[in-house]
Amino acid sequence: MNVLDQLKARFGTALPEGADRSAFSAAVRPATDSKFGDYQANGCMGLAKSTGKKPRDLAAEIAGAVDLAPIAGTPEVAGPGFLNVRLDDGWIAGALGELLNDDRLGLVAPAKRKTIVVDFSSPNVAKPMHVGHLRSTVIGDSLARILAAAGHRVIRDNHLGDWGSQFGMILWGWKNARDEAAFASDPVGELARLYRMVAKRIRNGETAVEEAARQETAKLHAGDPENRALWDRFMPHCLGALRGLYDRMGVSFDVWLGESFYDPRLASVVEDLQKKGMAVESEGATVVFVEGIKAPFIVRKSDGAFTYATTDLATIQYRMETWKPDQMLYVVDSRQADHFKQLFAVARMWGHDAIDMQHVAFGTIMGADRRPFKTRDGDVVGLESLLDESAVEAYKVVQENSPDLDPEEQRRVAVVVGMGAIKYADLCQNRVSDYVFDWQKMMAKNGNTGTYLQYAYARTQSIFRKGETTPEAIRAARPTIFLTHPAERAIAVKLLRLPEVIELASEDLKPNILTDHLFDLANAFSTFYEECPVLKAESTERRESRLALCDLTGRTLKFGAGLLGIDVVDRM
Ligand code: ARG
Repeated sequence: MNVLDQLKARFGTALPEGADRSAFSAAVRPATDSKFGDYQANGCMGLAKSTGKKPRDLAAEIAGAVDLAPIAGTPEVAGPGFLNVRLDDGWIAGALGELLNDDRLGLVAPAKRKTIVVDFSSPNVAKPMHVGHLRSTVIGDSLARILAAAGHRVIRDNHLGDWGSQFGMILWGWKNARDEAAFASDPVGELARLYRMVAKRIRNGETAVEEAARQETAKLHAGDPENRALWDRFMPHCLGALRGLYDRMGVSFDVWLGESFYDPRLASVVEDLQKKGMAVESEGATVVFVEGIKAPFIVRKSDGAFTYATTDLATIQYRMETWKPDQMLYVVDSRQADHFKQLFAVARMWGHDAIDMQHVAFGTIMGADRRPFKTRDGDVVGLESLLDESAVEAYKVVQENSPDLDPEEQRRVAVVVGMGAIKYADLCQNRVSDYVFDWQKMMAKNGNTGTYLQYAYARTQSIFRKGETTPEAIRAARPTIFLTHPAERAIAVKLLRLPEVIELASEDLKPNILTDHLFDLANAFSTFYEECPVLKAESTERRESRLALCDLTGRTLKFGAGLLGIDVVDRM
């Protein structure tokens, strides 16, 4: 059950006539400090104006009118007009007792089950994936998992860039500088080499190469048999390499509908826009103007080529026909903000106005020098080598912190720690900000890191091993939960928050709401572990109650980590 929603609903029925319910409800939140109780309603200050009453009087009036039983007693009026809510200990204990045997950890179906397309990762194939693709992949995967856990139908779509100018560059490179033997032994490596070579020549101002590569792209789009055959030959290798990386990262998709898939639809998209009077000719190109935005949205260039924009319009049309989604999320670098603003505006003008389209933007990963993360030679950091390095770095951490594990086990744990550290470091950020990539920080054993989360989980499991019992045995015993120690109560209140946290993270599309919560829970567990003896508790009842808290904490941390795409291990 969602405690926050319950409280909001109860307050909603106790507000005076004419009060702005949604504003009041938005100001009901978990308390920032446990001195103020467990939840707070801070909406009385806002209501004061519209009702003509003093905030404190209003708060007293609402406190008298609201019925929070059995969840909580009468809220306390504090400060200028805050309402502090303290959950009832008996109620918490009962709710936890139920949670103990609930596989869903209290999650409930959403009020409305939405169909949501998550467009994420979407790399441009034929050039190797690099660190820039990490964020879309990690954030998109986590959001897809969170939305599914919240009860929505999620379609994970990898909108590959498999039809763009980079393919023309490779085609030109292939025709002019290929190394067949290299291609035979390492096809993706050879294609990457060709891509880099051509990109460099274009960067160095070789306009003839640029023009020739552009023509190769145009020929591919026009159906030139040689270029199509090469495309068919290269693609399986590119896809294979991507699959390997995704497997390693534990990321999957429901569909891989790349740009090439939409090619047959592009001409009719432009025709339709023209027929509807939306698209006009401008300097030889076909464009759509959007109110309030100066730059035209180009759907066909003067040379007749369709664009990234045309493809995105065709994609929206296809998704609407195929899945009728309620929401479409684009997990893409914030530098594409202008493109998406225009795209959404044009799509709405085109008739797709009922769907909620959102650009889930994110910032850049920076190096220690606070500039975009590069290797020492100034190249972008390849994703493959980054993942390799994570295991090496994590191995050091594991050796130091878990000297009791045998080396084989240490290596296995290091892979899990390394991947967890990379993902967590990305997800715990406010996604629109840039962040600095720092192995040491992201694998700190204490702090808001994946490593800390994984250690906290392992600790919950080691208690069961030491106590020679199992979580299953404790669940089956259905112990009474005691909340006499403040540290027990603090964990309990956090355990009950999981459903609301997942709902908030899905509404705001922010995985960091979940990481913050898991960090809080891990911290509360650490205090509990120091202050409350579990295996040496004063009685069997107390021991079982505390073991139940360990079990619930462990399950919540593991489930939460799972929603971040992060694995845990029982022993580290
Ligand atoms: N391939 C693009 C890039 O690497 C991202 C595509 C995002 N999705 C979309 N529907 N435009 O920049």
